Amino acid sequence: MTINSTVISGYQTLNDIGYLLQNHQHVLLVTDKNIAGIAAVQQLIGQLRSTTTLSIVDTVPPEPSQHDVAAVVTSLQVQNVDLVIGVGGGSVLDVAKLLSVLCCTGAPSLDALLAGEKPQRRTASLLIPTTAGTGSEATPNAILAIPEKETKVGIISPVMLPDYVILAPELTTSMPAHIASSTGIDALCHLIECFTATVSNPVSDNYALIGLKKLFTSLETAVADPKNLAARLDMLWASYYGGAAIAHAGTHLVHAMSYPLGGKYHIPHGVANAILLAPCMRFVRPAAVGKFAQVYDLLPDADASLSEEEKSVALVDYFAALVKRLKLPASLDELGINADHLPYLVEAALDVQRLMKNVPAPVSANDVRKVYLTLFPALNH
Ligand SMILES: NC(=O)c1ccc[n+]([C@@H]2O[C@H](COP(=O)([O-])OP(=O)(O)OC[C@H]3O[C@@H](n4cnc5c(N)ncnc54)[C@H](O)[C@@H]3O)[C@@H](O)[C@H]2O)c1
Ligand SMILES: [Fe+2]
Repeated sequence: MTINSTVISGYQTLNDIGYLLQNHQHVLLVTDKNIAGIAAVQQLIGQLRSTTTLSIVDTVPPEPSQHDVAAVVTSLQVQNVDLVIGVGGGSVLDVAKLLSVLCCTGAPSLDALLAGEKPQRRTASLLIPTTAGTGSEATPNAILAIPEKETKVGIISPVMLPDYVILAPELTTSMPAHIASSTGIDALCHLIECFTATVSNPVSDNYALIGLKKLFTSLETAVADPKNLAARLDMLWASYYGGAAIAHAGTHLVHAMSYPLGGKYHIPHGVANAILLAPCMRFVRPAAVGKFAQVYDLLPDADASLSEEEKSVALVDYFAALVKRLKLPASLDELGINADHLPYLVEAALDVQRLMKNVPAPVSANDVRKVYLTLFPALNH
């Protein structure tokens, strides 16, 4: 897969988008009400209003469902949109990607996309992330919750990759600490899962290693010091590289097991991944010792004297400690969720075949059950 997006990055780069707008008359801006309140986004809206015909969708909820998108499509009375701009977290960007397809004349319906029909074209698009993140701006995926099945599905097509991406660190400084932490762990999961996936390859490995280095250097600084623009920009790039790694490889166990947690209990995507990160990596580690050791070597305080085996174990310990330091939950007990639904969770995770096939070790229903069980420490005593 080739990513042809033009990426513009740096402080206040949003101010220079006049030339991107030159050939566009009718812009559809997709965002949510939190993001629309950010000063830099207000300025962008002012600029768009003065130079184009502007339609705004600002009702995208976190973790959108197929019904949320269907409602937006129904309420959207716009025609002749020639540029879709998404400004927001992964939820907004995924909806913007879908709308860039759905607003084209003759496009497949949302139901057809969900049934696997592939879109042939989209309108021009610009994606501007405000979390770091999902890396949605660099992936061919749009993830929607399916409430009836209590899980999530991905609509996947390289057609949805945008023309332009802007990585502007000042847009992420208003993220509350728990969102900066959990979305940062999501990026970490993309990077480490793609790096260790059966479908990993030199292209995705390169993206993953660059992204992991930036993330290990800057995630905790960005959370502790929200106005640190250098750390924020590093995190936007780590997130982008995570997305690019997904585009060339794919995630595996954490994401497969996380979808039912989001679908059943509505746990935010990054939080569900944070809970699963260390337990899943502990399961996968014996099958990927060399790659884990390579990632360990990127840690700022890596101990070069350790053996490969020791490094791989230390990396898993680092992940567990990182989730704790970021004050993210490390178990489902902590969220007040009991183990009643364990059989459902196991079945639903195994159903995510698209990702399960990327796990670098054979994985049985009993393995998945055992990993989920570690999320209920009270049961293990
Ligand atoms: N397309 C992909 O490749 C991909 C990859 C991973 C996850 N996802 C999907 O992305 C969604 C999650 O996205 P997310 O983790 O970025 O969170 P999100 O977009 O759901 O945002 C979470 C909350 O943070 C707020 N927020 C976002 N940026 C902010 C900012 N700068 N300041 C203040 N508040 C801000 C939002 O308004 C929202 O309330 C899920 O639906 C998940 O399944 C998609
Ligand atoms: Fe993710």
